Amino acid sequence: MKLTDDEKAMLDGKEGPGRQKAMELLVRYGEALGAEKLVDTNNVCVAIGASGPFLRDMADKTGSLDAVFSEFSLDAGEVVEIPEVKACTYHLIQGLDPDHWEIEGVDRSVYELHLKGLAFAARIGIQLMNTCTPYLVGNVPVKGEHCAWMESSAVIYANSVLGARMNCEGRESGAAAALAGKIPYWGYHLDQNRLGTHLVEVEYDVESVMDWNLLGYYVGEIVQERVPVMNGIRRLPNLSKLKHCGAAAASSGGVELYHIVGLTPEAHTLEQAFGGKKPVATLKFGPDERRVAYQNLNSSGKETAVDFVMLGCPHYSVEQVGEVCKLLKGRRVNPNTNLWVFTPRALKDIADRNGYTEIITNAGGILMTDTCPALAHVMPKGTRVAATDSGKQAHYMPAILGVQTWFGSTRDCIEAAISGQWRGELA
Ligand code: F3S
Repeated sequence: MKLTDDEKAMLDGKEGPGRQKAMELLVRYGEALGAEKLVDTNNVCVAIGASGPFLRDMADKTGSLDAVFSEFSLDAGEVVEIPEVKACTYHLIQGLDPDHWEIEGVDRSVYELHLKGLAFAARIGIQLMNTCTPYLVGNVPVKGEHCAWMESSAVIYANSVLGARMNCEGRESGAAAALAGKIPYWGYHLDQNRLGTHLVEVEYDVESVMDWNLLGYYVGEIVQERVPVMNGIRRLPNLSKLKHCGAAAASSGGVELYHIVGLTPEAHTLEQAFGGKKPVATLKFGPDERRVAYQNLNSSGKETAVDFVMLGCPHYSVEQVGEVCKLLKGRRVNPNTNLWVFTPRALKDIADRNGYTEIITNAGGILMTDTCPALAHVMPKGTRVAATDSGKQAHYMPAILGVQTWFGSTRDCIEAAISGQWRGELA
């Protein structure tokens, strides 16, 4: 791999052992990928927490988060002192909500380690956004900006809707990119890999958040890791709808980039989206395909008594929190059901001021931040049957948490929270 002078200097240890280990990792990673060079990045989103059981043991044993970072984020083979990050770096979702850890059923020792982790991240200059939707709270990369982000739902949004350039990074490459301000130049950083591969003729009037989930889920399952181009969208979606569509496509498949003709920045026309080439395959999304996606997402749901309603995957926008409040106002959540709604911490402040938090609390629900059930493995104790309006959460909950999961509209979910029964149907 060709390295610039500043990259060679870091690799030679001129900026200390932490950045040296980061560069060693990036060079190994880049060479394995066949990248010819690295590219500068000043926008990194990572998760470096140590609240998982294995990392927790290591942190307990060594008493040092430098040791955990050296081993598990830099694969360093020795403990090095971790310097301040070079790139602007933002923390993604964490293992718990520090304001609701007891309700989440988290041990005090884990909570205390979590606080140490927050202090460590802050010490090395990582911004504590603690959300999977950094683009909702101020990290909005511009078109063409080279980034290094973890979190598939965020990557697909930034690549597709914003036209930023990134691959879905892991804990190690993300951490190394933060310290070095570099990332291998391959995959979706390159023009030629950003062209569409599959044409999706959309023959159903996709409008609601639920429909955008279903479209993303259906397309992702078929195209897997390729680049779908959706054609025929007649109603302009908003940010929340595209957020759900991408998250679902990145769950049923590994989609990191899609285009919508006439809407997303690299698809003003069909020709531009494919770069003049022919699609490798054409598929359609009509009423039948919509039904298939709905059935697939509901395949684990058997019992209709719902213990837990989870909303806010990816973390809700403030507009979505407001919509929940409209549906919930003056009503009470069933005593046998828990309602947890997730939003970024920065938006919770707005929700507090707008009276949304109070409405949710008065109804018996909880507005949470910083974490989510599927990723953090936290749920109300004894949950057997869950419901959600997120294709991504419905995909992962049965597999990760072993619970039956119903998928439907936000209204279906709120009605389930109130009645304790799932009555959702595909209209
Ligand atoms: Fe975010 Fe968790 Fe969903 S990380 S995208 S709320 S699975």
